[in-house]
Amino acid sequence: MTYPKDREPLLRDSDCGNEIENEKWQHELFKFSDAISFIHIKRERICPRAVFLIVATILGLFLVDQYRISMRRTELEECNDVLAECENVPFNETLVPPFYNYLEDFTVSRRYDISLCLIPKVMSTIGTAVLCYIDDPHAFSNANRSIAHETYDGRFCEGNEMKSFASVSRNLHSDFENVIVVRDPFDRFISGFTEKCVKYEGLDLCHGCGVDIRCFLRKQYRRFMRMSMLFPVYTLADTHFAPQTWFCDMKNSLNKSKVIKYANRGEERDQMIDSILEVFERRNVTMEEQGEVRNELSKGKTIHSTRGSTIRLDYEKMMKEDVSIRRAIVRMYYYDFLYFGYKI
Ligand SMILES: *[C@@H]1O[C@H](CO)[C@@H](O)[C@H](O)[C@H]1NC(C)=O
Ligand SMILES: *[C@@H]1O[C@H](CO)[C@@H](O)[C@H](O)[C@H]1NC(C)=O
Ligand SMILES: *[C@@H]1O[C@H](CO)[C@@H](O)[C@H](O)[C@H]1NC(C)=O
Ligand SMILES: *[C@@H]1O[C@H](CO)[C@@H](O)[C@H](O)[C@H]1NC(C)=O
Repeated sequence: MTYPKDREPLLRDSDCGNEIENEKWQHELFKFSDAISFIHIKRERICPRAVFLIVATILGLFLVDQYRISMRRTELEECNDVLAECENVPFNETLVPPFYNYLEDFTVSRRYDISLCLIPKVMSTIGTAVLCYIDDPHAFSNANRSIAHETYDGRFCEGNEMKSFASVSRNLHSDFENVIVVRDPFDRFISGFTEKCVKYEGLDLCHGCGVDIRCFLRKQYRRFMRMSMLFPVYTLADTHFAPQTWFCDMKNSLNKSKVIKYANRGEERDQMIDSILEVFERRNVTMEEQGEVRNELSKGKTIHSTRGSTIRLDYEKMMKEDVSIRRAIVRMYYYDFLYFGYKI
């Protein structure tokens, strides 16, 4: 049982102010206070507690409001829709920043002191096989392996992978050569999209967007912007679409590496193979091994389904015709275009 009269003196203390005139309001307040307090609270403490509650509530509301205002400001200052013009933000501030330390993944040949930076969707599987082969061609052949047919899951070499450029530098001789194979960002995006989002649509790998390229670009862009401000996230889509400068500690490794442009057909592929073999030549890789690497890299893609390539053509056409899609891709990969010398 409570005694309402007991409280009155306290209410009239300076603590609670004499100005409170509405007795009914006080009574309601105490009922409220009682209801949320435990039974054994000393009477004297109820009033400060009530004041505290009010102050805390006001402060809480104030903070929530401040948070909303600051989020609104952040959103005003950034490009919410990567497909739109976003005239409220200078163009250079809508770009996904370069050289974020996202993932470092290398495969190495200790025999020749060559390392290769592995970027998803850029020759990472066959590149792994090439270095595996030159490191120990006899073991590779004796296991009935061939470079062009290696798959990542069943790969022959697993022990020659390193998780940081620092560790590559420590483990190979100081004159080692690092190779970074890069790919035209448009080409890499389309390739990733048709494979991960269209071909495996049923697996829902693309942030719930299905085969909707515009939805995917919006979501993936926001994810990269948030990652660059907060912390990295590694879903399959994130890793396959992350900017190439986000890999292999390129902030430090790029200007110490041989950069080679990837191509999977025609003259450009021959140039790519020549550039790789130039590095191998410098590292004294034997002629026989070089020949084998050239043969294997010159093989066409094993299975080239017509369905796959028509889909690809459809998306290429969509990209060519739709300015907003191209602009979104440029915003995501601007620094890949810039640092690797691809035309926008
Ligand atoms: C964008 O460009 C303006 C003017 O050219 C420059 O002052 C600003 O620092 C740039 N912002 C970024 C993020 O590069
Ligand atoms: C490689 O193939 C040969 C002939 O087909 C076979 O005799 C041998 O057992 C195979 N070796 C391995 C390691 O699979
Ligand atoms: C690489 O970049 C670093 C810093 O950006 C610079 O100090 C160094 O001289 C560059 N090295 C080469 C070989 O360009
Ligand atoms: C390659 O071989 C030549 C001649 O034997 C030698 O001078 C050079 O140092 C070797 N290069 C490397 C990277 O081992």
